[in-house]
Amino acid sequence: MNTVIGIAGSARKKGNSATLMRAILKGAVRAGAHTKEVYLNGLVFKGCQGCEKCTSKGKCILNDDLTSILNELHKAEGWVLASPIYYDSVTGQMKTFFDRCRTFTIDPETQKLKPQLKGKRKGVVIVTYEDKPRKDYYHEAEKLANYLGWMGDFSKVEIVSEGKLGPRDAAENRPDLLARAEELGKDLFG
Ligand SMILES: Cc1cc2nc3c(=O)[nH]c(=O)nc-3n(C[C@H](O)[C@H](O)[C@H](O)COP(=O)(O)O)c2cc1C
Repeated sequence: MNTVIGIAGSARKKGNSATLMRAILKGAVRAGAHTKEVYLNGLVFKGCQGCEKCTSKGKCILNDDLTSILNELHKAEGWVLASPIYYDSVTGQMKTFFDRCRTFTIDPETQKLKPQLKGKRKGVVIVTYEDKPRKDYYHEAEKLANYLGWMGDFSKVEIVSEGKLGPRDAAENRPDLLARAEELGKDLFG
């Protein structure tokens, strides 16, 4: 059975990005996957210290709430990253998490860049925002999607970039969007 982990980068558990993340995970469950939701804002973790110890040890030497999550992500066939756009970028929580994924990009034998996640994977990067649909915000999601390729063999990474989602409950009141997200999860992780 596939394991799909959703990483939510918003403090608003019931907000737009997390709501879309859960819809995708719901679709993954329909397709037979085992899922887990991670809310970064509820965790205590440091940003990457740039110590580069992971380049020789093969894992991050920091020991905090992210440690076990990184271990689980090491094995998960599906990654769903969800973040609102804050000042034209993903949230600090998402960026801090993503920096810690550096450990997945370096081969400890050679200290050179080489994806460390074994096996094939699939992913989704979700960004939600208030403004009208914007290409530069799509690109923010695309940047994370591209870097997933530095970590492992992500054969497919879908991007969900949804504008006009200002208020907290905006996504919840868009059954069309939720249905599309659920279908995406079912198709991608089935
Ligand atoms: C600090 C902050 C910065 C924001 N910056 C932007 C922005 O640059 N562009 C935009 O369109 N929306 C911006 N927004 C609106 C959020 O992206 C939008 O409400 C999003 O859907 C919230 O997602 P959430 O409910 O998952 O937290 C900002 C909101 C906050 C709180």
